[in-house]
Amino acid sequence: MDCPRSKRQLIENMKKLFFLAAISACVFTSCYKDKLDEIYPGIGLFTPCDSTAHPSYSTHIAPIVQNFCIGCHSSSNPNGGANLSTYSGVFPWTANGTSSVLVGASWHKPGFHPMPPGYQLDSCQLRQIYNWCLDGSPNN
Ligand code: HEC
Repeated sequence: MDCPRSKRQLIENMKKLFFLAAISACVFTSCYKDKLDEIYPGIGLFTPCDSTAHPSYSTHIAPIVQNFCIGCHSSSNPNGGANLSTYSGVFPWTANGTSSVLVGASWHKPGFHPMPPGYQLDSCQLRQIYNWCLDGSPNN
């Protein structure tokens, strides 16, 4: 057996291994981002959207309203007379369920003021609002 040669090979393999380990370390730690708030700063939603059939007010609806509506619909700034900062402020706009102002405005349906103005929520968020209204907009 040619000892010097296999030694050289061993060193080469060690180098390759080290290189792979360095890349993996990078991928699995500092280079890898699994936090939505780091990838999309400002969007404010820290959990991936879940278009669950039975959305909950506190888990699904309130965060959407907090992030996309409250700027113009808080107690100090209730545009259009709509203070959406609490469940009891949101609930009246859900009258008529899936034909409600909340669904019409967020889905940008004809005959409603599109909300938020100039921007539409993503399809998963729209589905959550719709399904929540379909369930009778419970305070869950
Ligand atoms: C940039 C400010 C702004 C944002 C953000 C905003 N709204 Fe509005 N909203 C308004 C204004 C202004 C009105 C008054 C009607 C108009 O002039 O369009 C209004 C009116 C309303 C009304 C009263 C009914 C009506 O159509 O007049 C509801 C309900 C409403 N908005 C819901 C929402 C919801 C839900 C969101 C978030 C998904 C939202 N708004 C985000 C500005 C905003």
